[in-house]
Amino acid sequence: MGNGLKPGGSLVKVLVVGKGGREHALCWKLKQSPRVTGVYCAPGNAGTALEGINIAIDTGDFRALTQFAKREGIGLTVIGPEEPLANGIVDAFQREGLRVFGPRKDAAELEGSKVFAKDLMRQAGIPTADYRIFRSAPDAEHYILSREVSLVIRSKGKSLIRNTIMCRTAVETLEHIDRIMDPREQTGPGVQVELEERGERRVFNTAVEAKDYVLGRPLGMVLKADGLAAGKGVYVCDNLRQALDAIDQVMVQRIFGKAGDKLILEERLDGQETSILALTDGRTIVALESSQDHKRAYDHDEGPNTGGMGAYSPAPIVTRELMNQVEREILVPIVHALKRARRPFRGVLYAGLMLTNQGPKVLEFNVRLGDPECQAVLMRLQSDLLDALEAVVDERLEEVELRWDPRPAVTVVMASEGYPGPYERGRVINNLEAAAQMTDVKVFHAGTMLRDDGRIVTDGGRVLGVTALGDTFELAQQRAYEAARTIRFGGGWYRNDIAHHALKTTT
Ligand code: AMP
Ligand code: GLY
Repeated sequence: MGNGLKPGGSLVKVLVVGKGGREHALCWKLKQSPRVTGVYCAPGNAGTALEGINIAIDTGDFRALTQFAKREGIGLTVIGPEEPLANGIVDAFQREGLRVFGPRKDAAELEGSKVFAKDLMRQAGIPTADYRIFRSAPDAEHYILSREVSLVIRSKGKSLIRNTIMCRTAVETLEHIDRIMDPREQTGPGVQVELEERGERRVFNTAVEAKDYVLGRPLGMVLKADGLAAGKGVYVCDNLRQALDAIDQVMVQRIFGKAGDKLILEERLDGQETSILALTDGRTIVALESSQDHKRAYDHDEGPNTGGMGAYSPAPIVTRELMNQVEREILVPIVHALKRARRPFRGVLYAGLMLTNQGPKVLEFNVRLGDPECQAVLMRLQSDLLDALEAVVDERLEEVELRWDPRPAVTVVMASEGYPGPYERGRVINNLEAAAQMTDVKVFHAGTMLRDDGRIVTDGGRVLGVTALGDTFELAQQRAYEAARTIRFGGGWYRNDIAHHALKTTT
């Protein structure tokens, strides 16, 4: 790979936009480039302040950011999070003639609108779950209630309704329960509803109880709010009630605001999940080393979903064969489809996949590096990151070949007490220096802040991404946990089983 002799091979100052663990990892890696003369981060955290200079500008203030970049002579700005990308930060920089890494607003819609992404996948023949789009709550509810339930319903007791009915849908069953329990149809007290499912009979004394049973029938569906919802807009529903509740939250209570104008109902897929990240300049695709995050809060992948409690790289489940298949069936077609739609994509494409027994299917696309996957992956990158990102911006990615440390990396996220629910900020973090001195360990900061008195304190739900390399997954894991145990802050906690999938497949 080039070392500064290519076009754009001059000395540059870089600006990283964002304030999480991913942005700390980007600052750290960019700083290693011999061509980087200064690293700035807006707004950054206590960790990015150790790599360079934090600038107190919000990621949504495009005017202040572009003005700063011009004034300071920034040669490349790298956008970390999805929100500014979806809101057009790259367009704003380009309008000012500034060099910036990331997709433009129209291409970032691949993550910003799940409806856009699904429709594009369908057009391009990219494997993904079957889906339907809804623009109103009643339509979505009707669709859910029209799902097959296969219940036999009959009245018991003194009712004029004597027949046994095979109900094919939930809505039919609910209507029939109302008819049976309608006092006008009853000739005496004690009328009951009997529901029979696969030969098993249950008797209910009230309409409410009977309906409750119907709404508890299994449903293999996933509901997704169309727009950005900080990773919370996806509901994997086990039964009809959960689906109706999800529709209510998204479209009636509108807990995600405009992101809930449209809703996707899609088929639930089964299999192992993995994600593939790749650089693309709209023509060439260079996949990054594989990685895997742990989304659930607690050990054994239990508990609520989070932004990610840890990650490891490589992901042993991603074989060379699978990688080739994903490139052929997913990455190449999506990059082409975006180009045909006149929304050329330049940046990082992140494909979240379900490995079904019919092959890999796309759960979602993101338009940025994953967090905390980025921390584990960049720990292994040996090539100059600035060269690679500039090659994307200049549409000459075909010149780039990335070199990787063959050793695995493990990232353990240390979180605040209460996360992913409400948590306190401002707890003093101790022993960061001791952990930083450990060999092959890097502590990436996420929710941290440098207080006026010079102490580093917690300032978010995910606080640190303690990352380690090791000759084996076992050693990388041991080292990451040793470092995590060294660091202390009130209420701080982490999962104890990060990379357990990898250990199972490699030892
Ligand atoms: P997404 O933000 O679309 O990746 O969804 C978040 C999580 O929801 C994924 O990581 C999966 O665990 C789950 N999920 C999303 N779509 C589906 C689906 N069609 N079938 C099963 N699980 C899904
Ligand atoms: N770790 C998941 C994400 O960055 O979307």
